[in-house]
Amino acid sequence: MAKISVGLDIGFSSIKVVSLSFEGDKAHLLSLGSIATPQPGVLSDNDIDLEAVAQAIKKLLAAAKINEKEMSLALPESKIFTRVIDDLPYLTNQELDSAIRYASEEFIPLPITEVNLNWQVIYRGNKGEKNAKTMVFVVASPKNLVNKYMKTVLLAGLKPKLMETEIIATTRSLVGNNPFSPTTLIIQMGASNTDCAVVSKGMIWLTRSIATGGLALTRALAQQFNFEINQAEEYKKVYGLQEDQLEGKVYEALRGVVDIIAQESKRVIQAFETKYPQNPIKRVVLSGGGAKLPGLVVYLANILGLEVQEADPWYLISKDAAMQQKLSQDAPSFSVAVGLALREE
Ligand SMILES: Nc1ncnc2c1ncn2[C@@H]1O[C@H](COP(=O)(O)OP(=O)(O)OP(=O)(O)O)[C@@H](O)[C@H]1O
Ligand SMILES: [Mg+2]
Repeated sequence: MAKISVGLDIGFSSIKVVSLSFEGDKAHLLSLGSIATPQPGVLSDNDIDLEAVAQAIKKLLAAAKINEKEMSLALPESKIFTRVIDDLPYLTNQELDSAIRYASEEFIPLPITEVNLNWQVIYRGNKGEKNAKTMVFVVASPKNLVNKYMKTVLLAGLKPKLMETEIIATTRSLVGNNPFSPTTLIIQMGASNTDCAVVSKGMIWLTRSIATGGLALTRALAQQFNFEINQAEEYKKVYGLQEDQLEGKVYEALRGVVDIIAQESKRVIQAFETKYPQNPIKRVVLSGGGAKLPGLVVYLANILGLEVQEADPWYLISKDAAMQQKLSQDAPSFSVAVGLALREE
């Protein structure tokens, strides 16, 4: 029997789910869906709010006809501390554990007892070699945050299989672990946040999250034109960053916020290329619901001076012809959920 794997992405504005079946390592799409996230959502300290999210998840799974109880979850990038530590000497796994604990104090503003610490070796030189180094990718998730996600999915009658950060999941669906794919900057624009990651040789080298996303764009329009939020949202989706629409008025109102994201992306590129000058970034992949903002691909390509593509997390996955049309409309929103479902183990 084919193995089934489900990814659940509880975003700030919507919850997405993807279910895949595997024949060997070939993935086939079984089902997908999304539903609006009841506010304030899963970051609330109030159990009633978590219960509301749980109910929405149940509804979503029923509509998508997903019966599996076990699924993988994404944790919000903005609440997680990640870092590549690249100044360690050659160390065994056991030695690494204490070295990482020590080094982590520098970038985790919480007591180490309040986080779950995970790490993955990116590179390790040969033992005995002079100046052999170890590079690790470290992820520290606040226990308090993990508990809220855990509680929510348990309330929905589910069993969490594993949790990883949004950008790790996205990297899997958009780049995979192909060591030969060009060095890539992923910009993932959700509703509340925009997350960036530099991916090279199938691994993440740098991540950054800023608290500016699609919602900030909508708010800028609402404020500028005295619109209701729903109306602003509509204008954003229809006109976006197109200078030749409505005398460029929507374009002008959105530009200030988009430039915050563009400048941050530029800083990420500069930080990476200063550190690894022999490995320049070759392309940008734009993900998350915000990637669909009309005109954004061209706008960013001009500012960053790089090729920019809209994300297609479905490219590795086989699907029935009937699904094809539906998928292409909403592709960038599903990068996280697809990446979660693609995780093997
Ligand atoms: N066609 C479109 N044009 C512009 N923006 C869009 C379009 N479609 C969706 N968006 C925006 O994308 C955002 C939602 O994206 P996404 O579903 O990736 O966010 P989320 O996962 O719910 O949020 P977060 O990742 O911040 O928790 C919203 O701000 C929405 O306005
Ligand atoms: Mg999201």
